[in-house]
Amino acid sequence: MPKKILLDVDPGVVDAMALCWAFFDPMVEIAGITSVGGNVPAPVAAKNLQAIVEFIDPPRLPRMGFGTVPDEGLPSDYRHVHGIDGLGGTPLPVAELRSRHPAEKVICDIIRDDPENVIVIAMGPLTNIARALILDPELPRMIRHLYITGGTLNARGNVTPCAEFNIYADPAAAKTVLLAPFTKTLIPLEVTNPVMFSYSDLEQLPGTDFKLGSLFRSMLIPAFQAYRQCYGIEGIHIHDLVTYAVAVHPELAETKELAVDVEIEGQLTRGMTVIDARPIPEWTNGVDVVTKINEQEILREILLGLNDAANQME
Ligand code: RIB
Ligand code: CA
Repeated sequence: MPKKILLDVDPGVVDAMALCWAFFDPMVEIAGITSVGGNVPAPVAAKNLQAIVEFIDPPRLPRMGFGTVPDEGLPSDYRHVHGIDGLGGTPLPVAELRSRHPAEKVICDIIRDDPENVIVIAMGPLTNIARALILDPELPRMIRHLYITGGTLNARGNVTPCAEFNIYADPAAAKTVLLAPFTKTLIPLEVTNPVMFSYSDLEQLPGTDFKLGSLFRSMLIPAFQAYRQCYGIEGIHIHDLVTYAVAVHPELAETKELAVDVEIEGQLTRGMTVIDARPIPEWTNGVDVVTKINEQEILREILLGLNDAANQME
């Protein structure tokens, strides 16, 4: 029985690749997709979501919702990695959507339509998820499971010394979500950073004579160049592909239930995920935090999924 999923994305090259995989993954049924500002401003994320869906041209269009910026605006983005357009400069045509439904309403409607059966996979800042929880206070008892790309176990951030980007971008939203009473799994940087995607991994994907092979290369090669220029690293992180793999194949990950909160005030520590790891924790909000994966196994699963998607699309 395929898992019913709702994807919340800030495309971004890797978010876009995870979307392409999901559309062809027999393990899932996409109930809906919502965009959120993060890697790129909200309007660009919305356009990219639509462009990817139009490129895939699925037999049945998924319900889509479009987020706006966090209440305090977007403090930073990753256009230096993903390009101004967020997809590595890939020229994807996109029609103008007539009515753009607000992301939080689409999230509430999809979950209410099938209580306790929708798995939400959050790959960007948690703005939309938090707004959905505020819009519908009954939501926590109806969400089957929420998987989140984000946070750190030991406060070694990527966007600041202490904070991971998705949490940093909207810490108040992250706090609301992580403290809400429902089942959620956090996939932190300590788990996703070691899973790098390199040129040799790209060579294991179908070539440019495949539609998705061409799209992946068009997005990834500029991202590889950006990583080399900005970080001196050969290859790129694929955080959201790891999250997607863990959400669909939870047996690939070891987790530990921990109480997690978010610093929203600190000048140096804004967006830091703080874990109560005291011998006798006093915080009680349990979050399943992924503590261990087998990087080779996860990367194999990702390559298999992307290859399968590329072959199915032809
Ligand atoms: O910190 C990594 C996360 O921030 C990823 O989801 C990436 O796409 C950006 O959203
Ligand atoms: Ca993302």
